[in-house]
Amino acid sequence: MNVLYIRFMALAIFMLGAFSGYAQNKPGATDTIDRKWWKEAVVYQVYPRSFKDNNGDGIGDLKGIISKLDYIKSLGVDVVWLNPIYSSPNDDNGYDVSDYRNIMKDFGTMDDFDALLKGMHSRGIKLVMDLVVNHSSDEHEWFKQSRSSRTSPYREYYHWWNAEKGKPAYRYSLFDVNHDAWRYDSLTNAYYLHYFSRKQPDLNWENPKLRNEVYGIMKFWADKGIDGFRLDAFQFAAKDTTFPAFPKGYEKNFTQYYGVQGNLHGYLQEMNREVLSKYNVMSVAEGAGNTFEDGHNLVDADRNELNMAYAFEGVDIAKPEGYSITHLKQVFTKWDSAFAAKGWLSIFLANHDQARLVSRFGNDSPEFRALSSKMLTTFLMTMRGTPYYYNGDELGMTNAGFTTIEDYRDVQTLNEYQRQKNIGADLPAYLKRIAFESRDNGRTPFQWNNTANAGFTTGTPWIKVNPNYKNINAAAQEKDANSILNYFRRVVKLRKDNLVLVYGKYTLLDAQNPDTYAYTRELNGRKLLVLLNFTNKAASTQTGIDLNNANVLIGNYQKPSKNGTLLPYEAVVYEVK
Ligand code: GLC
Ligand code: CA
Repeated sequence: MNVLYIRFMALAIFMLGAFSGYAQNKPGATDTIDRKWWKEAVVYQVYPRSFKDNNGDGIGDLKGIISKLDYIKSLGVDVVWLNPIYSSPNDDNGYDVSDYRNIMKDFGTMDDFDALLKGMHSRGIKLVMDLVVNHSSDEHEWFKQSRSSRTSPYREYYHWWNAEKGKPAYRYSLFDVNHDAWRYDSLTNAYYLHYFSRKQPDLNWENPKLRNEVYGIMKFWADKGIDGFRLDAFQFAAKDTTFPAFPKGYEKNFTQYYGVQGNLHGYLQEMNREVLSKYNVMSVAEGAGNTFEDGHNLVDADRNELNMAYAFEGVDIAKPEGYSITHLKQVFTKWDSAFAAKGWLSIFLANHDQARLVSRFGNDSPEFRALSSKMLTTFLMTMRGTPYYYNGDELGMTNAGFTTIEDYRDVQTLNEYQRQKNIGADLPAYLKRIAFESRDNGRTPFQWNNTANAGFTTGTPWIKVNPNYKNINAAAQEKDANSILNYFRRVVKLRKDNLVLVYGKYTLLDAQNPDTYAYTRELNGRKLLVLLNFTNKAASTQTGIDLNNANVLIGNYQKPSKNGTLLPYEAVVYEVK
């Protein structure tokens, strides 16, 4: 093959890529779109501990995931985000890393990892890894060295406050049993900082040596061929290291005081220069700061920091007492409009830190579980932004239903229980609250079939399987053309087949309607209309769009609504003139 031919082919492929979006659109249309694979991807999140156990020890593992790659492929998703699989004492299920270049024993070996990556790539699936570098485990060699003496070369890898100076100004810890982020260590008569559990000391990003260690770790994985990084809790990485006292009332605006401080953007630009720009990898930050400006500073392409971020405001809306649909619409609409011209966000309503999608945002009663799961999935797959979809939600898996604290495993839930007990609080009320919102709700084993332990393990699962696996499981849903699982596949395909759903302009309609969510997506002369009923009663919506000539692309009822009156939890996507 000669060089000219290769150049010609490259040009042809480039032109195809640039124009393929126009094929399905009307001639003469000219909306310009900046196409990127990570914008067009549907991300499927796999929680390795709970996905599939291969060796019967009750803990999901890499070989287990390998055995289910054909299932993942069958979903039509193109990217897997894997929660941390690095060596870890598991205080926080892998978010406390003791060796960033090795695999957690529970999960397998580096050979298993290489086989997993190969298996994904051979199926056309990309792999995004969690990068947990706001903190390490206290069992990481760096921390062991750091705490051993005040003069250790690793001392400055973490944040220490010598006790002669008195107690440092209060910092809130998200996971500590006393909520106190400073932990006294008698060995060197000093306090170290931990925003999360006391086994998760915060790393000092002001130290260039630490930063270079992290870039080395990132290159190690990027050289293996992984396709992206999810930066865990990274908005907290840069701090005001003079540690001033915060003004009264600061708790109301947590991120403003704890996150996006100091030289965060400088670090990200350096990371981009040193690592991200050298590989074909995507990057996503957990958290989008405190304001839209913060969000843009993280993701605007001309700043060379990250590709996208996820904002929490949407997922935070659901409360035990319910949530307002108008509020949900407002939040998603305002984030969309802030990023309409520039920048890119992710779309999600569930992950491993949240309760189950259908239990929290839908209705998990037998009557409405399937309908409301499909409705929520339709929403996630028809918004602008990259959808992140959590494993098990494609089956409509529900909250765990735990009633005693013994069933819980999550460090945050358990430490807070202990704290509530210490302060003499109302424990039954706390149990009720966590039944709705504990992170363990989303972490029960994946329900593969109706055999013992839902086919997740032949041993004793590390956390109880939801007893409803007999009815809710993948095997049963495979056989049912109308299942949530098969609907998920169809709606993913709809998104993949229609660039208008990825890039198209989003317009909210019937904004004040308290029951329904209606919007259009438009690109190059095509216009899709999405109608969603978020309630368990029929509801009508006034969009001003004539549905007589509308073509139904997908819906969760056999006979989709054609007059704007939606059945309970109905979802329909139309192509309109
Ligand atoms: C992120 C993770 C969460 C973890 C925390 C500390 O929020 O998603 O699971 O506990 O960071 O690493
Ligand atoms: Ca196992």
